[in-house]
Amino acid sequence: MKKIEIEELSIGDVISRDIYNDQGSIILPEGTKITSKHIVYLMDKGYKYVYLDEPNHSESYVFELLKNEKTEIINIQYEIILNEYKYIYNQIQSNNCDFDANILTKEMKPLVDSVIENNDILGTFRLVSYEDSYNFTHPLNVSMLGAMIAKWLNLSHEEIQEVALVGLLHDIGKTLVPQDILFKSDPLTDSEFDALKAHAKLGYDVLKTNPTIPKSVLAGVLLHHERCDGNGYPNGLTQSETPLYARIIAVADVFDALTSDKIYRKRVTSFSAFKILREESFSGLDPNITEIFLANLSAYFVNNKVRLSDNRIGEVVYINKFAVNRPLVKIQNEFIDLASDYSLDIIEVF
Ligand SMILES: [Fe+2]
Repeated sequence: MKKIEIEELSIGDVISRDIYNDQGSIILPEGTKITSKHIVYLMDKGYKYVYLDEPNHSESYVFELLKNEKTEIINIQYEIILNEYKYIYNQIQSNNCDFDANILTKEMKPLVDSVIENNDILGTFRLVSYEDSYNFTHPLNVSMLGAMIAKWLNLSHEEIQEVALVGLLHDIGKTLVPQDILFKSDPLTDSEFDALKAHAKLGYDVLKTNPTIPKSVLAGVLLHHERCDGNGYPNGLTQSETPLYARIIAVADVFDALTSDKIYRKRVTSFSAFKILREESFSGLDPNITEIFLANLSAYFVNNKVRLSDNRIGEVVYINKFAVNRPLVKIQNEFIDLASDYSLDIIEVF
């Protein structure tokens, strides 16, 4: 046992004597494993030192603790913004758009910072165990994906925050679309589809009454369904006429929509989504942004386990940047290059 000052504590240290408060109650019992929250708490309450067991931590033990800590923090940050979004969504449903976008941006900053520091956006998504309806999780996912793309495009920190705000608010107009259309599981009629498409303009119209929202963010919300070939809505703008934030959010929006379960269809694997995104980059999505997105995202699938259409399980060993959806897969001692062997497909990613 050794006496150690609070400032010297490390995450994962184990307390070997109970810690009491002024009233004589135990606040941290012997055997507690120290987390960053404990350190902040003890410093805050003016504790000077604690007694510890002699350290005996393996590297994997400390890594596991840090991972758990990160997971807990991301989930708290995610839940805060999810609840904030639901609040704004309900407010707008009652025609009240009276929130402060500057405060919202400050509240989003810890989550955005965690996402871009982690760099592995899909890994971050896996850490988030918070489940809710697609209607609420989709804007958060698009916000995080958008922030990640903005970082990969080397935008400034301020611009990354703005892109994240566009992502969070991009579909807010859906709150004003008839709910029976929004949640319809059968295919929409032409007039119903027109009503759904109105969400971009409806969102813009309600948000522009709020003076705290930057014009660049408003434009991103209005134009996130524009397509580079001029076949998008509401204005049929081309690539050069559509602002950058809207083009970023378009890519993030399509990817999250494809890889999420919807009322009317199941999600596709990330590799199938890569294929669809690449196809769409030849017409609708910004090709430069899509390429950067695919190159960065696909890199994280090296060493990932996948199931092929013949039911065998293998490991991704190499991803060709010209065929990101068809990597080289190793199964025991056999290498299968999906870029040249079209008899097989990836049907599951673990
Ligand atoms: Fe949308």
